[in-house]
Amino acid sequence: MREKILAVVDELKRLKAEGEEFVFVSTDSVASLNAATSGEKSLSPAIVLPAAAISSPRPQPSAPLASSAAILPDASAVRAAPTKSSNVPVPSAEPKLPPPPAVTLPEGDKRARWEYLRELVLNCPVCKANLNAGAQVVFGNGSLDADIFFCGEAPGADEEVQGIPFVGRAGQLLVKIIGAMGLSREQVYIGNIMNWRPQTGQSSGNRPPTGEEMAFCLPYLQAQIEVVKPKLIVALGNTAVTGLMGPDTKRKLGQIRGKWFDFRGTPLMPTYHPSYVLQYGSNTVKRQIWEDMLAVMEKVGMPISEKQQGYFR
Ligand code: URA
Repeated sequence: MREKILAVVDELKRLKAEGEEFVFVSTDSVASLNAATSGEKSLSPAIVLPAAAISSPRPQPSAPLASSAAILPDASAVRAAPTKSSNVPVPSAEPKLPPPPAVTLPEGDKRARWEYLRELVLNCPVCKANLNAGAQVVFGNGSLDADIFFCGEAPGADEEVQGIPFVGRAGQLLVKIIGAMGLSREQVYIGNIMNWRPQTGQSSGNRPPTGEEMAFCLPYLQAQIEVVKPKLIVALGNTAVTGLMGPDTKRKLGQIRGKWFDFRGTPLMPTYHPSYVLQYGSNTVKRQIWEDMLAVMEKVGMPISEKQQGYFR
């Protein structure tokens, strides 16, 4: 029994790491889960589990699934699925943030415009009000003449302390990938959908940003893209894809990665987030990311050596 629950928790954690915020559970699956846990209380048929609510599992083999904090620390977060075919998450009732800022860049060269934008974001009262204690607002960095603009999700624990994107473990892996492409961190631009680390109310752990948080920060990201004018954008993981391409519950990163999309006139390549590789990176996933990077290199006209072609083969 414990194994079955752990397997479900593992799968939910994997989906969460992939950026899934909600998981649709069919009536049949709920029935099987309830049969497997044979508890007194049952899950209601056809529910949407917020994958974002999944934290470290504390499986209680004898407890029924719905009442077990193992999967849903906050059982109140279980919401009835919208009727009919839609499984779009119900938006939170009250807006918690003001409308997204209107950003107007000043005249001037790239550096002057970027410095202006950086000051604007670092002093953004909404960003500052959403910081964890002792944390900093995180603004993008890298070359203002970069051909490639990497876009991640949100600062993590290391980034919010240092005020620099992608400096933790995922960042180190990203820099390795960039290095394998024959570039340095300083030759590309690295930004995030979010300028602050979404608060969890707990001392550890991350959560994906809400749609409202992403919408608030998007003008800041868009302005960075406008300043840098990269040849293309690489969206790292589901949150970056959702932030840049808009929400779509039917879209699956595994299906769209490696293909070209458009963000307001700039080619956009979705791929996996480095933290996904760190947690679940099979050789297949590593190869897939690398194939995506080869496509990126080709698109910007970089030479590709035989050795590079052969990585992860
Ligand atoms: N993950 C992100 O998406 N961005 C960061 O800056 C760090 C980790």
